[in-house]
Amino acid sequence: MMNTKAVCQRLSVTPKMLRIYEEQGLIHPERLDNNYRNYSMENLIQIETISVLRHLGFSISEIKSILTFDKTKNEYLDMLYLQYKALDAQIRELQNKKNELKGNINKLMDSCEDENFNDILIRERNRSYKKLLNYDDIINAWNFDEMASDFINRYMKEDIPYQKTIRRLQEMIRSMGKNTFTDVGCGTCNLWQEIGDEKDILAIDSSLPMLLESKKKFPWIKVSMDDILSLDINSYRKSDVVVSAFMLHHIDYCDQYKAADNILKLCREGGIVLIADRCYRDPAMKGSDKTEFFIIAEEMKQYLQLKNTEVKIEYTDENMVIFIVKRLV
Ligand SMILES: C[S@@+](CC[C@H](N)C(=O)[O-])C[C@H]1O[C@@H](n2cnc3c(N)ncnc32)[C@H](O)[C@@H]1O
Repeated sequence: MMNTKAVCQRLSVTPKMLRIYEEQGLIHPERLDNNYRNYSMENLIQIETISVLRHLGFSISEIKSILTFDKTKNEYLDMLYLQYKALDAQIRELQNKKNELKGNINKLMDSCEDENFNDILIRERNRSYKKLLNYDDIINAWNFDEMASDFINRYMKEDIPYQKTIRRLQEMIRSMGKNTFTDVGCGTCNLWQEIGDEKDILAIDSSLPMLLESKKKFPWIKVSMDDILSLDINSYRKSDVVVSAFMLHHIDYCDQYKAADNILKLCREGGIVLIADRCYRDPAMKGSDKTEFFIIAEEMKQYLQLKNTEVKIEYTDENMVIFIVKRLV
């Protein structure tokens, strides 16, 4: 329990902010007999959350709808996840701004003395201008999150090449016996249906709702919310088998090799990596879809071979490939 001064010191907020949050009905600190406020640990968590969301540009009424105070575990997870996603989006926005500034500096250094510098800068700024993040932008960006509750039935059941590829992966995994497994971009862990019992599986995905669905189906699976592009490799165990199915084609070409690299690093030396995904066999098709980045099969094979591996390719359909990669010792 803490008084106003202690809360302000600990959370870097002002007494006025606390008063506003209370007046707006966002927090309800207990009153002592002398009428002083007494903040509980729950109040502190709420205040911290409000501060982050305010900082990100959420309005008080938006925050009110996010904070419901009789929280279940999943509601707490949702609340933390929203903050995480909002911060993540802001970091990306800052990174874009940083790149833009770097670009401007380089453009100006290269420009001639008689060019109008203001015009150059204004042109670049208009090109990259984006409005401030708000709740709807963040929620709408969560495609996979929205798909999670009915992912397989609604989106993948009729996709025969997908089903065929999953079956083939299952056959391969079945033949491998007892091992440690990591599934990257696991979705709802459809791969482990019928073969996941008792297996030591670590499931990684950037979508919390996907992981919660996985956990519902397979409570013994260890899950980790992470992004394959930014995860801290050293904090992960190295598994005997690492699988990644249908994730890479959601990652832009400019990042796909980095993702592949990290997938390899999650596997122990001598272990096996299985990467299954939608692909183009003809490299000329690269970039023909602006939203999905089908793997260019031969290019990816060549890249994987540079990484001290043996690589075999199996096509399960015209546009479906499995890379079977052995990490050499
Ligand atoms: C099409 S689903 C495939 C799910 C599952 N592997 C399957 O075959 O049913 C792609 C999954 O990759 C996840 N994903 C996309 N980009 C990711 C990233 N950068 N890091 C980790 N997971 C990612 C998505 O959240 C989604 O669950």
